[in-house]
Amino acid sequence: MPSMTQGELKSSVLNSNQNPNSPVASSLSKRQKIAEHKKTLPIASVEKRLIEEVQKNDILIIVGETGSGKTTQLPQFLFNAGFCREGKMVGISQPRRIAAVTVAKRVAEECDVQLGQRVGYSIRFDDTTSSSTRLKYMTDGFLLREALVDPLLSRYSVIIVDEAHERTVHTDVLLALLKKVQRDRSKAVDEIGGVLKGRKASPLKLIIMSASLDARVFSEYYGGARAVHVQGRQFPVDIFYTVHPESDYVDAALVTIFQIHLGEKEGDILVFLTGQDEIESVERLVQERLQHLPEDKRKLLPLAIFSALPSEKQMRVFAPAPIGFRKVVLATNIAETSITIPGIRYVVDPGFVKARSYNPSKGMESLDVVPTSKAQALQRSGRAGREGPGKCFRLYPEREFEKLDDSTKPEIKRCNLSNVILQLKALGIDDIVGFDFIDKPSRSSIVKALEELRLLGALTDDCKLEKPTGDQMARLPLDPVYSKALILANQFNCLEEMLITVAMLSVESIFYDPREKREEARISRNHFASIEGDHLTYLSVYRESNEFLEKRKAENSEAKVDKIMGKWCKDNFVNSRSLKHARDIYRQIRGNVEQMGFNVSSCGDDLLEYRRCLAASFFLKAAQRQMDGTYRALESGEIVHIHPTSVLFRSKPESVIFNELMQTSKKYIKNLTRIDPLWLAELAPHHYKTEE
Ligand code: CDP
Ligand code: MG
Repeated sequence: MPSMTQGELKSSVLNSNQNPNSPVASSLSKRQKIAEHKKTLPIASVEKRLIEEVQKNDILIIVGETGSGKTTQLPQFLFNAGFCREGKMVGISQPRRIAAVTVAKRVAEECDVQLGQRVGYSIRFDDTTSSSTRLKYMTDGFLLREALVDPLLSRYSVIIVDEAHERTVHTDVLLALLKKVQRDRSKAVDEIGGVLKGRKASPLKLIIMSASLDARVFSEYYGGARAVHVQGRQFPVDIFYTVHPESDYVDAALVTIFQIHLGEKEGDILVFLTGQDEIESVERLVQERLQHLPEDKRKLLPLAIFSALPSEKQMRVFAPAPIGFRKVVLATNIAETSITIPGIRYVVDPGFVKARSYNPSKGMESLDVVPTSKAQALQRSGRAGREGPGKCFRLYPEREFEKLDDSTKPEIKRCNLSNVILQLKALGIDDIVGFDFIDKPSRSSIVKALEELRLLGALTDDCKLEKPTGDQMARLPLDPVYSKALILANQFNCLEEMLITVAMLSVESIFYDPREKREEARISRNHFASIEGDHLTYLSVYRESNEFLEKRKAENSEAKVDKIMGKWCKDNFVNSRSLKHARDIYRQIRGNVEQMGFNVSSCGDDLLEYRRCLAASFFLKAAQRQMDGTYRALESGEIVHIHPTSVLFRSKPESVIFNELMQTSKKYIKNLTRIDPLWLAELAPHHYKTEE
């Protein structure tokens, strides 16, 4: 190591000298293939040195190109080096649920163990870990919540914050919190002579992993922590731009996919799209256009990957295409750095991504399609050059690239903070403005979040945690406003109904809306529709399906019930996957509230109380009809429209509460219930003063 001058980053490069093209005989068994593959990863040749670095440094920053094996291999190295002795765990946090799931499955396979044994994952509403789990992949949000229950994270010997460059709001909070946990753990070791909750306390090792080549920001944040670079291998990637801007990037992507398929050498294609809808429509269009090609040109296999995809389908993108076929993987920016799909040689990058944005003065959060940053564009093109020289097609002119921002703004600067602030408060961190964030959120968004939490009764007037409400709200794995709804429902005697509501609102669309059968779907939906609004409509879907299910359960085997239920959903144009998911969520949050000592009671058919409870819970999102038939959101003063999918779209009641505000061509409100305008003053008098 050369000596350091002040301000210089303490870092070094760990080189690998592997031959990327080592032949792998196709006759090898699956286990042998995996072993071979592991050996060829750039990180494999530096295992020993990496472990030494972890042993020497309590905080280590590891930077390495995507696909070099950081996420899948390092935890296994740590396990082999004894970091999981005496029941200790290595925890790996991921910004994305889907990465936690697919990586854990892959690592379980590599270790030849069943998922949930030595290797498992925990994400909200889906925990596969057991007492034998030693390598635990989880979302950053999950780890944060775990700290509420176990502030010293005492079961972990090492925590790896993965994909730190993504800078999600949870990652940023974790980075700060882990600093504190590490300090507190060392103190606990000193003070109590090393015995912690019956186990021996040991210092916590922290590893921050990032794909961005600039480790400086993390190193400086941790007082000049050591950073090491794992060198990946990158083959040259030719970048192509369009001559003119494309007015329809989905269509342009489609054209490009077929140009590659028909004109380029073998190799799979990766296309970056912004969301599920876009992916599904491109998938369908690819299939349609294939039908117009001669038989021998149809060997193109579209595969989707996005977070709401059922988990059994998620793993399909990793399998090689059948012989003679070319895969075209249609992905959200999940495939940018979080997961690496083998075989990719061509990347199609329209240059857009869905990103959160937040306007604190209006309290409005939205998910917008925006141009990527330069860093994202580079990451995307890099995906084409992992296994050999590749090509990347950017669907915009070169001059547009120059105009892109260098990197993405950290999420903490563009989201509603009430959730994380409530968690910090529950962790005993009171001074939010003075908190040691790596990037400080704006003062106005902190103020707004504190105000919202006060209005919801989570904080006292001087911004301390309100007991027990605030504490209870922080412990529920839900947005504060939904947690509050459950607490209120307990008082309104409609907890059963609210649990169903929150579960149904937590899943992707409950109704299945096939393009070809819109009218038929609408008529079937009418059968559930309530004139009072969407919440009651969801309630009747849930209740009716439940009744149906219980009856069938009594007389059929489980597999058969699944099938019958599938048919019921199909006949009723209900999305069976969403309904199943909602059922799971219901079970889990019901468990949560029962643990808090709540008694789950139902208001039965007295749905007036339930609607009043909705008004009392969601009073911050109320809207009033205007003379011209549009609505005014009372909190922000904004003009909004009822979304066409709402059952209240035609009837347009005078006053409503809503759960979601989204901006597309117009500002739409979704998930509404009709209320009596006088209820607001009665049920939320601290916010709505009664007018004469
Ligand atoms: O974390 P990093 O980007 O450095 O790499 P990784 O996610 O550990 O991936 C290492 C290798 O495992 C890549 O070659 C992936 O293609 C492969 N992998 C896989 O084949 N199947 C998975 N489900 C996950 C990773
Ligand atoms: Mg990774």
